[in-house]
Amino acid sequence: MTKQSKSRPARPIWEDDNTGKIMIIDQRSLPHEMVITELATVDDVIFAIRDMMVRGAPLIGVTGAYGVHLAFAAHPGNQNSALREAGRIRAARPTAVNLAWAVDQAIETALAAPEGQRARAARQKAAEIAEQEAGNSRKIGKHGMELIREIANKKPGKPVNILTHCNAGWLACIEGGTATAPIYAAHENGIPVHVWVDETRPLNQGSRLTAWELGAANVAHTVITDNAGGHLMQHGMVDMVIVGTDRTTYTGDVANKIGTYLKALCARDNGIAFYVALPSSTFDWQIRDGVGEIPIETRDPDEIRYMPGFKKSPENLLMPENSAAANYAFDVTPARLVTGFITEKGVCRANEAAIKTLFS
Ligand code: MRU
Repeated sequence: MTKQSKSRPARPIWEDDNTGKIMIIDQRSLPHEMVITELATVDDVIFAIRDMMVRGAPLIGVTGAYGVHLAFAAHPGNQNSALREAGRIRAARPTAVNLAWAVDQAIETALAAPEGQRARAARQKAAEIAEQEAGNSRKIGKHGMELIREIANKKPGKPVNILTHCNAGWLACIEGGTATAPIYAAHENGIPVHVWVDETRPLNQGSRLTAWELGAANVAHTVITDNAGGHLMQHGMVDMVIVGTDRTTYTGDVANKIGTYLKALCARDNGIAFYVALPSSTFDWQIRDGVGEIPIETRDPDEIRYMPGFKKSPENLLMPENSAAANYAFDVTPARLVTGFITEKGVCRANEAAIKTLFS
């Protein structure tokens, strides 16, 4: 079931109160239309994650966990088939560790339940993870707001200018977001903020989604091209950078939307704080070397070749028809360029000792 909606759902994924169906906002249609779709099968879930109807690390985790529910519901008496389906969901996108983490949690919970109750147990787990992520965002907002306040106190009467990349807002999470949570908290508490929103080529998560979110919350913002940040930083127009992440190693290396690394380099060159906001579900406790070991998704080059949102016809080509295009979706910012992490447990430096102390 797919329908257009005039109102804005409170979350990007939810269980319908009347039918119990799993519903999502189809983020591909934003900011122009609010389209709501049901996820009824494992294939629906995989398509929604791959085609980025749902996206953002915490959200694809929660969606994956609901997918495990659908896998067990479709194969009530056949655990092996359900697990095979869950494995397909786990592999739908490779970079965000939240997907594998949440799918594994849902599988573990399902297998611990008696045979007839596995689908229900996985569904409960998915709902629980969603609540946890909403709570994490609230805490990230509270901790991150204090960093914004410190800067605001040094420039009374003027807004704190924050640059962000991609969309790490409520659309990418469950409520509040990660990178945007401190911004919303600051705004709600009367701290003046202004956000520079990187458009985030090629799928424009910044200009389509972050700008839409901030506008709806009345937060002052300006959309810029992905390459404008360096210029703004050189001219004192950025006070701090806050981004989200799809996977962060226990040593502090940060995978996030392609282009994040360049922002971190620029911030370092200009003495600007570069913070990464994340819930604990985005830490990868197995990987030490982010650049060498985090799998980086490469997507269809047509996302770069054609005007986004338009049909793939010659007049919508953005380059010569025969030119090759490569679509790397993420990059890794080494820990040495990160000022600190804003987590649900507080703020810490980007190194193994600090991370392990906070999450001991
Ligand atoms: O490809 P996307 O849109 O899923 O990439 C999302 C990001 O890079 C976000 O910054 C990240 O998932 C953090 S979301 C809170």
